[in-house]
Amino acid sequence: MNAPTMQGLNINAPAYVKNARLLAWVADMVALCKPNNIVWCDGSQEEYDRLCQQLVDAGTFKKLNPAKRADSFLACSDPSDVARVEDRTYICSAQKEDAGPTNNWMEPTAMRATLQPLFDGCMKGRTMYVVPFSMGPLGSHIAHIGVELTDSAYVAVNQKLMTRMGKAVYDVLGVDGEFVPCMHTVGAPLAEGQKDTTSWPCNPTVKYIVHYPETREIWSYGSGYGGNALLGKKCLALRIASNMGRDQGWLAEHMLILGVTNPQGKKYHIAAAFPSACGKTNFSMLVPPAGFDGWKVTTIGDDIAWIKPNADGKMYAINPEAGYFGVAPGTNTLTNPNCMASLDKNVIFTNVALTDDGDVWWEGMEKDAGKLPEHLIDWQGKDWTPAIAKETGAKAAHPNARFTVAATNNPALDSAWDDPAGVPIDAFIFGGRRSTTVPLVTEARTWMEGVYMAATMGSETTAAAFGAQGVVRRDPFAMLPFCGYNMSDYFQHWLNMEHKLESQGHTLPKIFCVNWFRKDEAGKFVWPGYGENMRVLKWMLDRIEGQAQGQDTMFGVAPQYAEITWTGLEFSPEQFNTVTSIDKAAWAEEFKSHDVHFELLSHHMPKELIDTKNALEQRLAAL
Ligand code: OXD
Ligand code: MN
Repeated sequence: MNAPTMQGLNINAPAYVKNARLLAWVADMVALCKPNNIVWCDGSQEEYDRLCQQLVDAGTFKKLNPAKRADSFLACSDPSDVARVEDRTYICSAQKEDAGPTNNWMEPTAMRATLQPLFDGCMKGRTMYVVPFSMGPLGSHIAHIGVELTDSAYVAVNQKLMTRMGKAVYDVLGVDGEFVPCMHTVGAPLAEGQKDTTSWPCNPTVKYIVHYPETREIWSYGSGYGGNALLGKKCLALRIASNMGRDQGWLAEHMLILGVTNPQGKKYHIAAAFPSACGKTNFSMLVPPAGFDGWKVTTIGDDIAWIKPNADGKMYAINPEAGYFGVAPGTNTLTNPNCMASLDKNVIFTNVALTDDGDVWWEGMEKDAGKLPEHLIDWQGKDWTPAIAKETGAKAAHPNARFTVAATNNPALDSAWDDPAGVPIDAFIFGGRRSTTVPLVTEARTWMEGVYMAATMGSETTAAAFGAQGVVRRDPFAMLPFCGYNMSDYFQHWLNMEHKLESQGHTLPKIFCVNWFRKDEAGKFVWPGYGENMRVLKWMLDRIEGQAQGQDTMFGVAPQYAEITWTGLEFSPEQFNTVTSIDKAAWAEEFKSHDVHFELLSHHMPKELIDTKNALEQRLAAL
């Protein structure tokens, strides 16, 4: 539809869109945002190619050298728009205490009054894309539908790779199906007749990422960056879905899901939570190391899991996403060969550097090439050379530079990744990035102790969110920025699972706590990590099978040195001790810091968690 303005409000919906609530909502949003145009995305390849070409013409995308990266593009964002903006992210529940102390909150009517003038006319001079998507396999009983209205073609093409996006969603939605309305604008309206000259439109000063949990709505203003703008991901699949899960008895988690098959062909499924940029993508695509012939690890998801108890007594998980929006820097064939193989075609790169021959580059790739490139254009369009980097410390790629790629590019993709029934979970893993204190791996003795481990998880901060890096912050369940309600109520929800499921005859998955990141006195990582994490994974499976005795420690059951398969790796008992030891003084400090954390969350804090802490402290005192 090419009318110069949409004052007539003919939204020109295709005949196959029959959902009455959707049609009414789109009409309301067109009236509010006043776009020049409306495009109903059908999710076809032809549409994707057309929008990508449009982004090339607008200067947002640069087409990469097809001989190096077929059908791939590079987008470089505005320097103000490179990460999630947690301080601009709001949970607007009716009651403040329902958002809890870890979320920004504004009373919903007040927030609506704040947003109304911002959204009024926000799409002037721009096109509104209607982007229907399913989070989860189409029609799965665990999946949910969202519809994103956005004035960013970059968002529309990213959603095609990240979700099941397009026409088929309307068949599932039908006339009266439920969907989550996701409103997004870059917040950069154009004046009458003004041509857009910016390659990355956004609002550098005003940003709002707003969730109304009771009415299940998302309103995002001012940012074009992934986590703020691809509203199926953090906003719907975590913040809104965590509310749905609490109300309906399931879990929406910041977890990868992997399958691991042993040489006898027995398959297990693990869901693991790590804070942003702590290696979830790497772990989900792990390649077993030397000494693990016949073992196979396959990816179901790399970031988010929706988990529902099933009548057969197991918890089943789906990956609501259909692609990966991963951190590029640090990725290479040593850290994640499957990921590198996934990135050779059909990729959208954001904020990485451009090589002189039209390929992409990021810090960490020199490990593959054996040397640094002589010259690059960095993510901000400036010349980069090793000499400049040495002198100024300039990074060629932004530390939070990303790739967007469809899951089907992954050579390690699990055959059940798209199974509407999901996969049965055998164990949960929780892990943070801690250079001291927390051991390599321990198994919780009880569900409650596992919930305690997850609730007190800490991690040294990374570039995935704006703010200081390298400081330990408590990130319970890796959900601190993503839990859409009061964190203490969320702990209670996890605790309730035990009573509820056990009374229905379920065997709950085991819970493990890991830390790949302990450093020695010289500040060097001791555990080799990456593929070698398979050794820890195997010990967990041995525990599940009752084949490893372990040893009781203050913080759960730990492996004995001899219980880890060491074939193919030199790792001495002394090194093992460095990554597994429990330092009494460090733990005394750690528990003090848990006190501060619990104090912050004291309103609604389950008493069982305080009791668990007391019990652990008594164990520590007895050491
Ligand atoms: C992500 C994040 O993008 O956690 O997955 O920040
Ligand atoms: Mn994440």
